[in-house]
Amino acid sequence: MGQPTSQPSSQPSPPATSPTAPKVLPDKGPPSAIIPGNVAPAELKVFDEATGQFILPALPYPFDAMEPHIAAKTMEIHHDKHHAAYVAGLNKALAELARIRTAAGDSALVKFWANQVSFHGGGHINHSLFWNMMAPPGKGGGGSPRGKLAEAIQKSFGSYEQFVAQFKATAASVEGGGWGWLAVEPWSKQLLLFQGEKQQDLMVTGALPVLGIDVWEHAYYLKYQNKRADYVNAFLNLINWEFCGKLYDRAIAR
Ligand SMILES: [Fe+2]
Repeated sequence: MGQPTSQPSSQPSPPATSPTAPKVLPDKGPPSAIIPGNVAPAELKVFDEATGQFILPALPYPFDAMEPHIAAKTMEIHHDKHHAAYVAGLNKALAELARIRTAAGDSALVKFWANQVSFHGGGHINHSLFWNMMAPPGKGGGGSPRGKLAEAIQKSFGSYEQFVAQFKATAASVEGGGWGWLAVEPWSKQLLLFQGEKQQDLMVTGALPVLGIDVWEHAYYLKYQNKRADYVNAFLNLINWEFCGKLYDRAIAR
């Protein structure tokens, strides 16, 4: 996720059939999000069907809800300025592509605007998920995963402690602005930890996000300056494992 105003917007079911006993799986319909994800846009209020425009969802808590781990001012700027800019950038890019389709725009710019869709679209969906992947510390935030997600973390990483160590190292070492992601790889159903640069680069195709941490400087710099690892450590006190567990349950049910 990044800061569209100061960063150039560079760039952003599978079969389980046996050959001897083929079976037809029921049609579950199209993927629920425009970008790899398993939460329907309508559920997170990221798109307005009436106007056909992407919209900025409200934060599910006050700006100061993540104190002392994330400063209220950081949350305010992050949501009201940065996230809002991704929404505006996505709508703008889609409008420009529509103009090109009707011959009113410059067809030579398709590459540029398509890239903008990837960057701003990634930023919009990533942040919309991110706000819900956190909850106030001690009031839904922090603790450890439960249920099937806890079992899957144990299976994929050996233990919760080993997962945490890899999660922190993954997020802290992203080059430049980007994300640390925990996601379900839908073919193998295993959990993966990987890095996403900018809003969309290095994504695993089809991966279904379960947990993500924004490690763009705008997410932590006011309080932590260059100490990203301290921010990642503090983020562990904010993880909304209930929400993440729901994402996991839905990802493996697809
Ligand atoms: Fe961000």
